[in-house]
Amino acid sequence: MIGIFDSGMGGLTVMRALKARLPGESFVYLGDTARLPYGTKSADTVARYALQAARALLAHDIKLLVVACNTASAAALPALCEALAPLPVVGVIAPGAAAAVAAVPEGPIAVLATEGTVKGGAYVRAIQALAPRMPVVQQAAPLFVALAEEGLATGEIARLVAERYLKPLLATLPRPKGLVLGCTHFPVLKDVIADVAGPDVTIIDSAETTAAAVEAILKEKNLLAAGPGQQCFLCTDAPGRFAHLGEIFLGEAIDPGSVALVDL
Ligand code: DGL
Repeated sequence: MIGIFDSGMGGLTVMRALKARLPGESFVYLGDTARLPYGTKSADTVARYALQAARALLAHDIKLLVVACNTASAAALPALCEALAPLPVVGVIAPGAAAAVAAVPEGPIAVLATEGTVKGGAYVRAIQALAPRMPVVQQAAPLFVALAEEGLATGEIARLVAERYLKPLLATLPRPKGLVLGCTHFPVLKDVIADVAGPDVTIIDSAETTAAAVEAILKEKNLLAAGPGQQCFLCTDAPGRFAHLGEIFLGEAIDPGSVALVDL
């Protein structure tokens, strides 16, 4: 069983990529829906929440933990690795940074993320660890989270919000050539974001590279499962809403009977 956690439903975009790459694996997904958003909270609070979520998943006998939440990866990855060792813990920031540098090695790279991720500078550090002189610009885009959660990922409102966030970011000189979707919720707005950014900007989604990193670890540790893959979901509030809206992020219907309410 692979454990995945996020502040809400957005991390289901990462689970979708994991399921596509690793169809034989079973997954338990925890969305801390009662306390979303993490993106506007302090790093200490996010780290505390992340440790609680990880402990709840340990009870499901997981062999690896994926921190699908960018904000939690930015604030708590070292603490989670230490607390859960020797269990492998995979965050989304390093795979996202690697994907960005591979996609636009000459840069510059723009990062769209939550306020917390932007403030902590984790993407800037991860990108510059791979490409030390890479110019990186960042923009917090908190309204994208609300739009995705409300099922308003397409249409006029999403476009106006995308213009508001992207125009100043892409007006920085030299003009960014890559745009990292540094938040779980942003892949569902990818079409609008790509349209506003224009064809000369490469959109980078860390879900694929995170799934590749998970596969590499499982192979190395000889932990790959042969299937059949199963899945179940935990959330800290409103399981009915989770099952209903989660479909937008997972790309498939979620059986309400597979979603359990938990208290962290
Ligand atoms: N899951 C968060 C992230 O990827 C976005 C939603 C939130 O702010 O909690 O940063």
